[in-house]
Amino acid sequence: MIIAPFEEALNIKSENILNGLDSSIIVIDDYLNIAYLNNSAEQFFAGSQIQLKGKNISQLLPFDSPLMSLIRQVQVGGSSVSDHGFTLDTQRTTKQLVNVQITPMLDNPGFTILNIFERSIANKIDRQLTHRNTARSISAMSAMLAHEIRNPLSGIRGAAQLIEQQATGDDRELTQLICDETDRICQLVDRMEVFSDQRPLERKPVNAHKVLERVRQIAQVGFANNIKIIEKYDPSLPCISGNHDQLVQIFLNLVKNAAEAIKHNNGEIVLQTSYQHSVHFALPGNVTRTHLPLVVTVQDNGIGIPVEVQENLFDAFVTSKSNGTGLGLALVAKLIDDHGGIIEFDSNPGKTLFRVMLPMSADANEDG
Ligand SMILES: Nc1ncnc2c1ncn2[C@@H]1O[C@H](COP(=O)(O)OP(=O)(O)OP(=O)(O)O)[C@@H](O)[C@H]1O
Ligand SMILES: [Mg+2]
Repeated sequence: MIIAPFEEALNIKSENILNGLDSSIIVIDDYLNIAYLNNSAEQFFAGSQIQLKGKNISQLLPFDSPLMSLIRQVQVGGSSVSDHGFTLDTQRTTKQLVNVQITPMLDNPGFTILNIFERSIANKIDRQLTHRNTARSISAMSAMLAHEIRNPLSGIRGAAQLIEQQATGDDRELTQLICDETDRICQLVDRMEVFSDQRPLERKPVNAHKVLERVRQIAQVGFANNIKIIEKYDPSLPCISGNHDQLVQIFLNLVKNAAEAIKHNNGEIVLQTSYQHSVHFALPGNVTRTHLPLVVTVQDNGIGIPVEVQENLFDAFVTSKSNGTGLGLALVAKLIDDHGGIIEFDSNPGKTLFRVMLPMSADANEDG
């Protein structure tokens, strides 16, 4: 028969696929006994198939591991659960930061798949969380700057204007230069002042699509007038718990960067919204896991983020542009932090994507 070897080949292939994955795949039965694990899972739990198959997963995890309660939740509830930024401390491995996804096997009732990703997304979130601290540390400096620089600057500008009245020719050009440059510094100080705003956020239910619509309008009449902006919205998206004006600032900065990265004529920016079920994040300082179901992505087909700035992307003053201040993304990180949200990115030449995850408003009705 021709079919048998073909099926065999297919089986071998799927096994190879599973073993080729970086993430650890473990299948357990209703009694928590391990029925299958791939190569990565063997490495993760530092044991071989022979040693681990048939073992109860509770023998590999501390008995109070939150993973156990997530498994129970899936076995009882019957729907999948994801958890990000999870510290897994097994008897066999050292502490690891992981993301887990637990899914019931619909085709094989009584079995559950655990998919454990080591660090990848968690890494990016980590990266963003360190930027929260950067945003905080520049906040003190910016408060000082705003105070100490604005006053002398207005003095300098005023003096230059006085001289300008009597100046002629070349001298007038110089006084104009002083005025322009002091204005530029003032604008910079204004932008930095936002970092020193420590007031708690005034939250209201905000319609994400109205925010994006505003951003699109501003972009299309100005910096993105030659770029196509495509909207892919989930119409049933619930409201964000947040501040309308700050959300506009967040997405305006992301769309502006996207537009500035497009150097060709077929520029396209895609704004997309979606709802993600059951994704929880462990954020520092929070005992409970935060549910961030609202996802807004800004994608462009520009040059991509230069590799050398990627590591510190959300830090202040990191820029690859000759006229950039490098404050855009630091501000974005600060405002998203104030919202209790998360931002991550993926970038290659031709495709850069920023994904913002935000909390949902408990109040279904939009305010105002
Ligand atoms: N969509 C994008 N595509 C390519 N590179 C990007 C993108 N978004 C950000 N970057 C890179 O990240 C750097 C930092 O961005 P950020 O918005 O913080 O500062 P900036 O745009 O350089 O200056 P500013 O926002 O103050 O005008 C940019 O200089 C650019 O190199
Ligand atoms: Mg910018």
